[in-house]
Order: sequence, then structure tokens, then C-alpha cells
Amino acid sequence: MAEYILEAVDIEYKYPGGTVALGGLSMSVEKGGKAAVLGPNGAGKTTLFLHFNGILRPSRGRVRFAGRDVRYDQASLMELRKNVGIVFQDPDTQLFSSSVLQEVSFGPMNMGLPRDEVLRRVQGALEATGIIDLKHRPTHFLSDGQKKRVAIADVLAMDPPVIIIDEPTACLDPRCRRHVVDLLDAANREGKTVIMSTHDVDLAYSWADRVFVVMDGALAGEGRPEDVFQDGELLERAGLDRPWLVEIYGEIKKKGWLAAGSPPPRTKEQLYDIIPDGRRASK
Ligand SMILES: Nc1ncnc2c1ncn2[C@@H]1O[C@H](COP(=O)(O)OP(=O)(O)OP(=O)(O)O)[C@@H](O)[C@H]1O
Ligand SMILES: [Mg+2]
Repeated sequence: MAEYILEAVDIEYKYPGGTVALGGLSMSVEKGGKAAVLGPNGAGKTTLFLHFNGILRPSRGRVRFAGRDVRYDQASLMELRKNVGIVFQDPDTQLFSSSVLQEVSFGPMNMGLPRDEVLRRVQGALEATGIIDLKHRPTHFLSDGQKKRVAIADVLAMDPPVIIIDEPTACLDPRCRRHVVDLLDAANREGKTVIMSTHDVDLAYSWADRVFVVMDGALAGEGRPEDVFQDGELLERAGLDRPWLVEIYGEIKKKGWLAAGSPPPRTKEQLYDIIPDGRRASK
């Protein structure tokens, strides 16, 4: 049976201004999985993530971590945040220390780790995110993409078993985007659960093992990426494009070029493998 690390059970959240951002959302994330949360602007993805590490508390329903209801006393919240690290959508809301080094050291220091361990973790996180050269720079003068990498290093240095990352690739150049995705994959291979929100359907399709579609503060659909992205009605309703791999797969299938039962490719290499070579195609 699946083991769920984070669950939202019928959660409702209304912001102080009166906006109902979540209106009875339920979803469960499997331990050790790679989950992508998709949905239009304002759907409630960020609000949901803020519930997953206890920054927001639902006005109705429950959030569960590792099979237990989240409690909201100071000690329980500290424990939850050690386990669930979140990289915010907007790094400016996350970064508050004056230098990159101070910023990335803050979390592990706050956890009361010995100095050597703090230094080891900070060094590891700065190297992993490729920002070792920025170590002594003031955080508030960095570019948006550099800030995003510092925010990711912040969370890596805490080494939580669950990493939530809100729009990981926004404002990153292509090389850095690939690098961040590789980092998340490496974390997942170590056994961490990774949850991301993204508007990049190609990334969600190739990367995730489970896709959740949020709309109007509720779950509109979920499933394996190859199923969700072939559900035309759901995509239409949520305003999501089809990933290019799914588009091309659909076309070559329509042309009758595929062997019966060829599964939809998840990567471009898998696509190249199922495209028949010139000789076979011209016969
Ligand atoms: N601090 C806030 N105060 C009041 N309303 C808010 C606040 N933050 C978000 N909202 C509202 O709550 C709803 C959900 O917003 P949320 O940021 O969770 O959406 P999202 O799915 O993350 O969108 P995006 O794709 O643009 O990041 C929206 O209607 C938004 O305007
Ligand atoms: Mg958001």
C-alpha cells in the first residue's frame, strides 16, 4: 500500500482580505515521490504549499505529515519545518540575511548543529547550486536567478526529507534550469520526496511521477503524467498545454507509424527510439 508523506484533507483557507484560496482541497503525496502541482495563476498552489510546512493553518480540514495530523504549537511547527523545506516562489520573501554565506548558514545554525557540520552543509549546498563564487555577496543585489539558487541552497543546507519548491525554474537560464532539475533528481534518488509547482508542462511531464492539477482552490485531477497529459478535457478545463512530446506522439500515432502498444515517450530519447527509421517509414 502507498505510504503518504504529506496529505491535505479537505482543506479550506481564506486570506484575511476574504479571498477563499482553497475551498476543500484534498490530495496525498507519496513518500519518496516526485510530484508536480500544476494549475492556472491564482489556483491556490502556493497557498497549498504554505500549508504543507505549517506557515498557514487551514480554517477547515487537516494537513497530515507522515501519517499524523500537523499540530500548530511552536515545537511541533519547528519539527515539521525540519522535515519539510520550502523554496518560495519569490526569493525576496525567503532571503533576509545580508550575505549569501550568512543566509545559507542560518538554517543549519538554527537547528543547533555543531559548527563543523554547519560548515560542511553550507559548503555542500553552495557547491551543489553553483554559487560558491557568490558566497560573500550581499543577497539583495543578486540577480533574480542567483537569488533563486540561494533560496534552493538554503533548503539543501537544512537537508530535509521533503523538499517543496514553488516554481523552481522561473527566472533561470536554460543551463541553470537543467542543473536545478538534476539537483532535485539527485535529492530524490537519495530518498527525498520532492514536490514542485510549475507552469512548465514539458518539465512536469518528463520529471514527475505524479501530477496534480489544482483549479479554483480544489483538486481538478491527478494521475501519472502520461495519463493526465492525455486527458484532453482536463487540460482544456485547466488551460494547460499539451507537452511537446505528447503532441508529437499523438501525431505519429495518428499517421500509423508506431508499433501497437508503444507507450508515450517521457523523454526525447524515448521519442527518437520509437520513431521508425527512414527505410521502415518509406516501405
Ligand atoms: N497574501 C494574500 N492575501 C490575500 N489573497 C492572497 C494572498 N496570496 C494569495 N492570495 C489569493 O489567493 C488565491 C490563490 O493564490 P496562490 O498564490 O495560492 O495561487 P497560485 O496557484 O500559486 O498562483 P501562481 O501560478 O500565480 O503562482 C488567489 O486568488 C490570490 O489572489
Ligand atoms: Mg504560486
